[in-house]
Amino acid sequence: MRAILFDAPGGPEVLYYGNAPDPVAGPDELLVRVRATAANRADLLQRRGAYAPPSGASPILGLELAGEVVAPAGPWRAGDRVMAVVTGGGYAELAAVPVGMAMPIPENLSFEQAAAIPEAFLTAYLNLFTLGRLQTGETVLIHAGASGVGSAAIQLAHAAGARVFATAGSAEKLALCRELGADAAINYREESFAERVLEITGGQGANLVLDFVGAPYWQQNMAALALDGRLQLIGFLGGSAGQLDLGPIMAKRLTVTGATLRRTPLARKTALTAEFIAFALDRLARGELRPVIDTIYPLDAAAEAHRAMEANRNAGKLVFRID
Ligand SMILES: NC(=O)c1ccc[n+]([C@@H]2O[C@H](COP(=O)([O-])OP(=O)(O)OC[C@H]3O[C@@H](n4cnc5c(N)ncnc54)[C@H](OP(=O)(O)O)[C@@H]3O)[C@@H](O)[C@H]2O)c1
Repeated sequence: MRAILFDAPGGPEVLYYGNAPDPVAGPDELLVRVRATAANRADLLQRRGAYAPPSGASPILGLELAGEVVAPAGPWRAGDRVMAVVTGGGYAELAAVPVGMAMPIPENLSFEQAAAIPEAFLTAYLNLFTLGRLQTGETVLIHAGASGVGSAAIQLAHAAGARVFATAGSAEKLALCRELGADAAINYREESFAERVLEITGGQGANLVLDFVGAPYWQQNMAALALDGRLQLIGFLGGSAGQLDLGPIMAKRLTVTGATLRRTPLARKTALTAEFIAFALDRLARGELRPVIDTIYPLDAAAEAHRAMEANRNAGKLVFRID
């Protein structure tokens, strides 16, 4: 099969479209002809040699895909349209997918639209609901609101009846956040998001914060959280190390948690996938939730997409089409 490969870690220029052995599906796996996949920050780290795939995962880049089943297993039949999170191997013509990770693609969505869903929406669902315990009527602050994960999180939280605040770094990205359901959109480059959240909530703060930035946001996140608030650490775009004041955790009875979807055990990811299907599939079919796509590239232009993501240019997902 054809796949995006690299022989030594480095910049986007190390990527090339070459030949790789076909994957072999295990007993509880489907073989899927991949019709579209998408870029993730983890792909950039893996390409640079800073993020080794978990043991047993394909060494090929790509954490999500949409395509057709070619070798069925479990309840799936040949020709079924599926989308899934995978631990690797998405940037290729064929991929093995655990049976319980496959989700049916609603009829109204193309393969390109479907490929923008799995990683962003499952990560958002895991951190908002499973770990973050977000309830109807609560307030949630979502950083990087126009990112792939952020754009999914705003829609999911809004659909669950939460009050949503989002941060982003440009007027266009803030407008997208509002369009997706954010009640307030805050430009973190121009004002203190903590002050804005406290002002909007009458000094109460947010019940939940979804953070992708890390150490540089710690102090403001602590200030923006309400009593008994929860902080979900999902990414460290600004770094993970620094001098942190732990005081507010005790004073406000805060909970701080982190997780990576890729390293979550398969049984838990399968349960998460089933919960997400129950919550989101009909909403996706009705257009109440939608994948947000910045650009669709042919797969052999993967390097170009990596450059765009590294420059923070995208609002929503960068998708690859595989013809
Ligand atoms: N834990 C997990 O399981 C998991 C799964 C998937 C993704 N992630 C993480 O989630 C984050 C978002 O991923 P994604 O693919 O959705 O990202 P993305 O679409 O590439 O968007 C990231 C956005 O974050 C903002 N940003 C970047 N650096 C920043 C900084 N230093 N301070 C403030 N804002 C910054 C930029 O938007 P602005 O222009 O608004 O600044 C950028 O466009 C990444 O950190 C990724 O590693 C984690």
